[in-house]
Amino acid sequence: MTALKLEEFTVKYKELVENKLDELVQSLDAPETVKEAMAYSLKAGGKRIRPVLLFATLNAFRKDPKIGLEAAAALEMIHTYSLIHDDLPSMDNDDLRRGKPTNHKVFGEAAAILAGDGLLTYSFEVLADTKGVSAEKILRIVSLLAKSAGPEGMVGGQAADMEGENKSLSVEELEYIHKNKTGRLLAFSVMAAAILAEAAEQQIQLLEEYAFHIGLAFQIQDDILDVEGTEEKIGKPVGSDQNKLKSTYPSLLTLDGAKDKLQNHLEKSKAALAASDLDTGLLVEIADMIASRDH
Ligand code: IPE
Ligand code: IPE
Ligand code: MG
Ligand code: MG
Ligand code: MG
Repeated sequence: MTALKLEEFTVKYKELVENKLDELVQSLDAPETVKEAMAYSLKAGGKRIRPVLLFATLNAFRKDPKIGLEAAAALEMIHTYSLIHDDLPSMDNDDLRRGKPTNHKVFGEAAAILAGDGLLTYSFEVLADTKGVSAEKILRIVSLLAKSAGPEGMVGGQAADMEGENKSLSVEELEYIHKNKTGRLLAFSVMAAAILAEAAEQQIQLLEEYAFHIGLAFQIQDDILDVEGTEEKIGKPVGSDQNKLKSTYPSLLTLDGAKDKLQNHLEKSKAALAASDLDTGLLVEIADMIASRDH
């Protein structure tokens, strides 16, 4: 069997997770308004990089990526909830997401908050109901997702991001924000797959290192695209960070400094992969894609 390249792999597994998400929301016995608002943001597009990363990590262990389908769907639901809430007027106050009006612009603030709450809660139900995986592994993944998305993870990063508005932060403070608001859910993609694949201790350590560096690289590129990107490509407003006086890598280090930092994280992520005994082709391609993406 020839190895799939990232592009083909992404097309295949994006479709798989998108169909699953669709099915999951449609099957809910809930008011149509909340189902509609949840489905709107889930179906608005999005790169699905977190699910693809989870599937690609399983592939690196030569496991069938499909065993991670529930975990991938749960993760994309949490990520989508974080975007809905991130765009609210009380947070980043943005009107465009994934090329479409933001959830609160279409459904109103209350419905957008509830759509986010619905996605967050439902994701844990989906994960807990995973079939064909041992209860012990499911429990470890549930716990990891809660930790990665909660106050010690993404929520903590978002809180520090809000508190950091209108202030000049140090690079260390900014790294805390980026590592948590963005890095932790990306790291979950990798580590959930490692649990499913029964990774050995040394593999876990190297994958944690890989995930840490691609997480920072991903958010640095997000900050760069907020300055240099086009609204058409990124599907969200350009200049949002500057309007909210956020500290970002470009604002702290200049654009060139941010780009150097990003390259540095890219190299370190690849060095971690190179030291492992895994089949890392797709993971290397994902790291390159993260660093050079234009959307
Ligand atoms: C945007 O994430 C929010 C950040 C964590 C930087 P993505 O760039 O993955 O957004 P989608 O899912 O493709 O819309
Ligand atoms: C938000 O970071 C990350 C999360 C939603 C957790 P940003 O505020 O920079 O994300 P974008 O640029 O709006 O996608
Ligand atoms: Mg934000
Ligand atoms: Mg934002
Ligand atoms: Mg941003």
